Amino acid sequence: MKKTVTICFTNNKGGSGKSTTCSNVGAAMARKGKKVLLVDGDMQLNLSLSFFSEEEVLKMAAGEKNLYHAIGKQQDLTDYIVPTAYDNLDLIPSSTQMSSIEYELFTKWQREFILKKCLQKIKDSGVYDYILIDAPPTLGGWVMNILCASDKVLVPVEASPWGMFGLANMFDFLNEVKEIAPDLDVLGIVITKADTRKNYFKQTLEVFHDMKDIQLLESYIRVDSSIEWAQDSSAPVVEFKKSSRSAKEYTALAEEVMERVGR
Ligand SMILES: Nc1ncnc2c1ncn2[C@@H]1O[C@H](COP(=O)(O)OP(=O)(O)OP(=O)(O)O)[C@@H](O)[C@H]1O
Ligand SMILES: [Mg+2]
Repeated sequence: MKKTVTICFTNNKGGSGKSTTCSNVGAAMARKGKKVLLVDGDMQLNLSLSFFSEEEVLKMAAGEKNLYHAIGKQQDLTDYIVPTAYDNLDLIPSSTQMSSIEYELFTKWQREFILKKCLQKIKDSGVYDYILIDAPPTLGGWVMNILCASDKVLVPVEASPWGMFGLANMFDFLNEVKEIAPDLDVLGIVITKADTRKNYFKQTLEVFHDMKDIQLLESYIRVDSSIEWAQDSSAPVVEFKKSSRSAKEYTALAEEVMERVGR
């Protein structure tokens, strides 16, 4: 039976492109015939909004069938899966109530592994090639849960001074998590919202290339307004405007990830 690979998208810097990257890598993998489950781990509901209208997302968030309730009850997540409009692509929606998840995890036994346990049956079933989890811009117990449930982690980074600031903290945190999840593999950094005309972008590339411990993925995603138009239409850009630059770049990134992961 095939082994499902779980990848999370994390960076405590807000707005670094985690949700955009998670939704588009997932949608590009699905277009390539891979069966993909997306998990919205953020109270901002951005991953869910990439596939459903605001009205639908708020309805799912207010109901019982979302990640918040499953984690609270420590339930198998199989019953929480919602199909998207696209073949091979399903979603577990989030809830705004995720804002209190840190507090609720606090008293739980083995609290770092609750999401892992809730995903275990889905993983063991081998139905999905990939499970992709979108993390919120924090570094706490919930993100630790997301990392402990993952085989791989991808760190989207915006090529800007403040996008780079704090990355060392992020990697220190990943090393801490590895103490309790030793098999967690850092796939590396992917640069997002790049403006290749700027010297700052070229300098950023050089800085990353010189880093010995951190892998930089070859693919990067340039600034593209098609992404915002796609999000305005509740669609990933790889479906909304297939001919766009970002659709092609996200498809190339998905291919690179699949190649590195070997699935
Ligand atoms: N390549 C791009 N070109 C133009 N805009 C982009 C691009 N990538 C992302 N954006 C925009 O940047 C903003 C932040 O992106 P996104 O929400 O994916 O980041 P995030 O890391 O998930 O944010 P948060 O930390 O709040 O969860 C969004 O408004 C999105 O539309
Ligand atoms: Mg996000």
